[in-house]
This record gives sequence, structure tokens and C-alpha cells, in this order.
Amino acid sequence: MKKSEKTLERAIAERRASPSFDGTPIPPEDLRRILNAGIHAPSGYNIQPWRFVVVQSPEQKKRLRAASYNQAKVEEASAVIVACGDADGWRKDLELMLQQGLEGGMTEGYADQARSSVPKYLSSFSSDEMKGWLNKMVMLAFTHMLLMAEVMGYDTAPMEGFEQDKVHEVLRLPLSYWVVALLGIGHLKGTDKFDGGRFEMAHTVFGEEFGKPLK
Ligand SMILES: Cc1cc2nc3c(=O)[nH]c(=O)nc-3n(C[C@H](O)[C@H](O)[C@H](O)COP(=O)(O)O)c2cc1C
Repeated sequence: MKKSEKTLERAIAERRASPSFDGTPIPPEDLRRILNAGIHAPSGYNIQPWRFVVVQSPEQKKRLRAASYNQAKVEEASAVIVACGDADGWRKDLELMLQQGLEGGMTEGYADQARSSVPKYLSSFSSDEMKGWLNKMVMLAFTHMLLMAEVMGYDTAPMEGFEQDKVHEVLRLPLSYWVVALLGIGHLKGTDKFDGGRFEMAHTVFGEEFGKPLK
């Protein structure tokens, strides 16, 4: 951990969804470290269906802002990671995933099983089910990146306020891509957002079954 970095616990406690950024560029090595945290997230069958488009140029940020209900922080952020899921990723990547798995110690038996069960499972999805599955996987990678950026001392802004079709057009995304969320990264400009607080654990956490308090 670098001297200026926060512990994960502190990053979680201090994180706010930044309302505004000062626009200073982010060093490429920092950006890569953040993206690396994203691609190391877990995913169902290790299919890794996430795809990230990193937007940093002023022109492209301006266009992305217009596709995101004119949210100023899209243009102000040092970088915006557009986190997408590829509904067809598994078709192309299954063999690559198995190859890497076999190199890392996956058994031939597991690989054979996955070769038939993964296509069976994922091709049975309706379009809405696929979007739900992609949302789950991509948000995990998204959260890895968000927290890594916060640990490194950056401020972040998760965003769902965008128009799917417009983002597709701006980024020239393939039809199989589903845009899940935008992650603005940079340094806070001005005062931070208020702390909205969180519900008590007893409100949201149960033990053993619904309605029973956790002991
Ligand atoms: C997936 C996701 C999407 C969000 N989208 C937006 C957005 O489009 N615009 C915005 O101003 N805030 C957005 N937020 C920020 C939330 O409003 C904010 O996280 C929430 O109010 C809690 O505040 P805090 O993150 O500062 O604790 C989003 C948050 C999440 C997790």
C-alpha cells in the first residue's frame, strides 16, 4: 500500500458519490491499476462478460455527457469508465476461459462439464434474463474498480442516469453490448455531497431466516 492510500475500511467509510470533479488528468498507470481491479472480479463460471470503455478526451466526454442527461460530472471527471456487459461474450470466450483455467489447475472433467453446461445455461436466457445476469456480473467488477479508486485517493461517481441508445451511439458499441453503469473518477471539486446515512443493520440483515434478528 502506498503511503497516501487508504485502508479499504476507511475508503468505504469516507466514500461519497462525488457531485463534481476538478478535471485533472489521471495518470495512465493509476487508471490501469483501477481497471485491473475490475477485471479480477469474480463472475459466474468465470465468464468475465464485462467490457469497459474508458472515456478521457474532452470531445468524447462532452458527447457522453449529452447521452447522460447532461450530468456535468461526466464531462468534469478525469476519466469515465463505461461499464458494459457483452451478451455474446460467453460464445467467444468460453474456450479461452477454459484454456486459462486448465493452465491454472482446472481439471479436464470440470472443463468438459463447463463446455456443455455453460452454453446450455446462458443460451436459455431471455433478453431480460441476460440483462439481469450481466448487471450482476458487471456491477461486481464496477464495485472493485470504484473501491480501488477510492483506496488510491480518488473520488468517484457511479451513474445510472444515461440513455442506453445514446451511449451506444456515442461509443459505437456492438449490438450485443448492454450498458450497465458509468463510473466517473477524478478529484472532488468544491464541497462533497451530504452523507445520506444508512439504515441500521437490524433493518436490512436477518439471521437464518427472514424476519429473525442476527445474533
Ligand atoms: C449504480 C448507481 C447509479 C447512480 N446513478 C447516479 C446518477 O446517475 N447521478 C447521480 O447524481 N448520482 C447517482 N448515484 C449516486 C447515488 O445517488 C448515491 O450513491 C446515493 O445517494 C448514496 O450517496 P453516497 O454514495 O454519497 O453515500 C448512483 C449510485 C449508484 C450506486
